[in-house]
Amino acid sequence: MLPLYHGGSVVLNRAKGEAIKMPIPRSEYLSNVWKDGIFDGRVVFVTGGAGTICSAQTRAMVHLGANACIIGRNVEKTESVAADIATARKGAKVLGIGGCDVRDPESLKRAADRCVKELGAIDFVIAGAAGNFIAPIAGLSSNGFKTVMEIDVLGTYNTVKATIPYLIESAKRNPNPPGDGLTGGRIIYVSATFHYAGMPMQAHVAAAKSSVDSISASVALEYGPYGVTSNVIAPGGIEGTEGMDRLSSTKTDYRETAKHIPSGRWGTIRDIADATVYLFSDAGNYVNGNVLVVDGADWRNKGTGVGRDLSMQYPNYLLNWAETQKYVKTGRKEKPKL
Ligand code: HXC
Repeated sequence: MLPLYHGGSVVLNRAKGEAIKMPIPRSEYLSNVWKDGIFDGRVVFVTGGAGTICSAQTRAMVHLGANACIIGRNVEKTESVAADIATARKGAKVLGIGGCDVRDPESLKRAADRCVKELGAIDFVIAGAAGNFIAPIAGLSSNGFKTVMEIDVLGTYNTVKATIPYLIESAKRNPNPPGDGLTGGRIIYVSATFHYAGMPMQAHVAAAKSSVDSISASVALEYGPYGVTSNVIAPGGIEGTEGMDRLSSTKTDYRETAKHIPSGRWGTIRDIADATVYLFSDAGNYVNGNVLVVDGADWRNKGTGVGRDLSMQYPNYLLNWAETQKYVKTGRKEKPKL
């Protein structure tokens, strides 16, 4: 099993005899194309912000100028990840609100109000809190199914309800397209691709994520006229994350099993952080009600193995077609005329 992404390393200052927390290098969570300051003075509110994917999204926003408020159930973890994210930029304010369960609308509303009181606004929202475990339908109780539906679907709905008044205010302050390049009034939901084709052992998660996509569409339609944009990011398998940890077996190293992914590798937290920055930035102004799949085309590769034996496994037959076609009855024997 791979280690999960963790906070920056700690080094010892021998002269002072004290430990110094080193920030995670930018290259791990943000590509080089984005300009510092594009989220200056803006505030991002993130549910599930202490998790591996959402903390990278938050870290990227903070690095580029935003302050942040992350929400989680575990008090200690949420506060320590908030402190770690704050190392991404000198002077950054990152509030960690633990003890907040997205299933409880009142506790979310209190968190959103506190964020605005302490940081001044909510300009961006990332609805990332989610629950997942592998279970066949036969091993999934009604309560197990309900629990994931409540965390993902009701939690997302509660997040929208608690933050939308602030997003509308932000959208008013930040007309789209912006004159100054600074944006606001945007929400992203972290979804999945499981529900496009269905996924065994994930009936609960697939049902939940398809509802999350649906909520995003409703928000785009109802609040687009108020200047708010609402989009989904659907990550594929992202290495080093809690999701992959939960969905993988300890028997093999999953990095060796990425051949079926057309882009040839698993995703990274940076891929998701970059997609987030794009949608929240001046570059994403006209993207609304959309689903941005960031998975190297993995979800599309459900039936592209055209053959029935090992030599016809994706992508081998594509890469060695000259050799493979010698053994395929319908394969072209000569070069095409054009
Ligand atoms: C079957 C299970 C189960 C399992 C729990 N349950 N785990 N059933 N197989 N492995 C059942 C319980 O038996 C119970 O039903 C019901 O679910 C509620 O369980 P609780 O433990 O009481 O719930 P709760 O404490 O609220 O915990 C929620 C949780 C837990 C989802 C079960 O795993 C959790 O807190 N997860 C949060 C973190 C997380 O999952 N992160 C992953 C995010 S990654 P009964 O019938 O016994 O009462 C992600 C990736 C998406 O979302 C895909 C990306 C590609």
